[in-house]
Amino acid sequence: MLKDKNIALYVTGGIAVYKVVDLMRGFIKQGANVRVAMTESATQFVSPLTFQILSTHEVHIDTFDERNPEIVAHVNISDWADVSVVAPATANSIAKIAHGIGDNFVTSALLATRTPIFIVPAMNTDMYENPATQANIETLKSRNVQFVEPDIGFLAEGYEGKGRYPENERIIEELNNFILSKTVDLPLRNRKILVSAGGTIERIDPVRYITNDSSGKMGHAVAEAAYKSGADVTLVTASKLPTPSGINTIRVDSANDMYDEINQHFIDMDVLIMAAAVSDYRVANAADSKMKKDDSSEPVTIELTENPDILKTMGSKKKDQFLIGFAAETDNLEEYAKKKLKEKNLNMIVANEVGQSDRGFNADENQVIIFTDDGERIEVPLTTKSEVANILVNKLIEELNK
Ligand code: PMT
Repeated sequence: MLKDKNIALYVTGGIAVYKVVDLMRGFIKQGANVRVAMTESATQFVSPLTFQILSTHEVHIDTFDERNPEIVAHVNISDWADVSVVAPATANSIAKIAHGIGDNFVTSALLATRTPIFIVPAMNTDMYENPATQANIETLKSRNVQFVEPDIGFLAEGYEGKGRYPENERIIEELNNFILSKTVDLPLRNRKILVSAGGTIERIDPVRYITNDSSGKMGHAVAEAAYKSGADVTLVTASKLPTPSGINTIRVDSANDMYDEINQHFIDMDVLIMAAAVSDYRVANAADSKMKKDDSSEPVTIELTENPDILKTMGSKKKDQFLIGFAAETDNLEEYAKKKLKEKNLNMIVANEVGQSDRGFNADENQVIIFTDDGERIEVPLTTKSEVANILVNKLIEELNK
């Protein structure tokens, strides 16, 4: 996908700059044309000469260092680029890009860019998790700027945390997928799909909780299948699985957290697919500190209170959105699934027989029956969860095109 693509590589000032030299070589090896611009602070980490020699082009640093009177260099590079990659992207540069500040060559060029932008953040955990940085990332995501999720690992500061520059192989793979989703006319292009996954966690106290056996594998597979078909996917997940490539992933714990996220994003979505195993109940009075053992022989009672039914609520609010639910049943599979299809005002439901170790909860494979609201019934025999997800997404595409 990178062959003959013009990549503007914007390097900002973080310790990971030295890794970006190899990233650039990876782009060139795949046949891309690369031009580089650096911020002054990036030049403190690696000399511009390294990038110049390896890219065989001059490296831009100073906006006012205009060598060719026929062009304005920062506008020229942005017009030339098919895609702009910012790596590593510091919190400072992300903030400037989000707020339209053009106070150096890199940020001015990005301000003039109309083609897709792909950002690889790398920074200290506290800087990454700072609400200001997160808000800036959200702002840019809402403008269709693509982000690579940083790795969790050993940071330059000498401790573990999220913010580490990811492996170059992953960045190149995600960039390829990103370009593919922008250039090829994939069937779910321009569709916004919200997917839920995993088993919610309901706290009893700070160290104990109630949950279920959902691993998140089914929901993550659905999110990936939708993304590969070109959709703009947001995944709300209570699972511990790694963040899938190119997917806007929101981590939650409880059913209430999941409700808040789904409720907030639903209005902008074309499709909601609820594969999560949402706890129907939560602890009525979760303790703020660890509960002490009670020495009396009286049974301990935990009072439960009902959680919101997320899917049913969205079903009652839906306008043009297409809603898909899952129904996990140990018996009367078809009858209960069809009942949920109606009661929750869904367009489709995936009836999932559970209770056997080779399928459903926490298994790698699944066997389901898909029902549509106009009475269609599609049996999917025992197969991998990715294959089930592909079949479901293909059926969704067919329904959306009706
Ligand atoms: O995560 P895995 O290990 O891969 O396992 C996959 C799975 C078995 C969890 C998945 O395939 C599945 O069946 N998910 C639905 C599980 C479930 O909670 O089913 P349910 O029949 O209780 O709920 C029906 C629908 O309502 C579901 O889409 C559920 O997400 C939704 N729901 C349920 C309760 C609630 N309070 N709010 C909801 O939105």
